[in-house]
Amino acid sequence: MWPYPKVLAHRGGGKLAPENTLAAMRCGYEHGFRAVEFDVMLTSDGVPILMHDDTLGRTVAGSGSIADISAADLRARDAGSWFGAQFAGEPVPLFADAARFCKQHGIWMNIEIKPVPGYDAATAQAAAAVVGEVFAAEIAAGKIAALPLFSSFSYLAVQEVRRAQSQVPRAWLVERIPPDWREKLEAVEAVALHTNHKNLTPELAAEIKQAGFGLFCYTVNERERAAEIRAWGVDAFCTDRIDLIPPDF
Ligand code: G3P
Ligand code: MG
Repeated sequence: MWPYPKVLAHRGGGKLAPENTLAAMRCGYEHGFRAVEFDVMLTSDGVPILMHDDTLGRTVAGSGSIADISAADLRARDAGSWFGAQFAGEPVPLFADAARFCKQHGIWMNIEIKPVPGYDAATAQAAAAVVGEVFAAEIAAGKIAALPLFSSFSYLAVQEVRRAQSQVPRAWLVERIPPDWREKLEAVEAVALHTNHKNLTPELAAEIKQAGFGLFCYTVNERERAAEIRAWGVDAFCTDRIDLIPPDF
């Protein structure tokens, strides 16, 4: 039912390293994590990179939309200093480099497709193309558990990633579980529903599990809460507190 790791480092290294960087992946790895969630977005020239916010300013200096900056320009900037001086000069990774890094280190990926509004299909296509290349052998062999899991708040992106790379599993990601969750999941042949643990109830969790879907929660930062939702049937979750919640929790 859930052939994947059960605890994932959110944005690579949770709150211990600058999010969505290779430094974050290394930090998660050093804490024993062999599973990560991160966000994939497109630059103005259509290059998939790791980024959460669709504007410059918080993690990378500057202003304006990520959709208006080229990969070369973005990657020349510093994505580490905002977090700490020891991370100065840490670049925004190419998604392709992050995927290869994870594969080489045996780190399983939940790839959240995070389009700038309006770029849903293009972002899904670009992410699918990278996974198709990096995991060509696993896809050909049908090794589902060795493949990453796509997810997105954008239902359009989930539809598109299925069209582009149907063999790679996908999940729909929602802040609140809508009444039509089941038909939405079935329509895209999703393997799982990903949702905010704060809006989950034991009743909804039971319904989703009884329907045969995986259930994943973001972002769980307290051990007591992790134990509680797991008792409701939640299969896996991501955490910012990789220092408090170990990968074998
Ligand atoms: O994929 C789960 C979680 O990362 C979704 O929220 O805003 O942290 O990308 P956000
Ligand atoms: Mg995310």
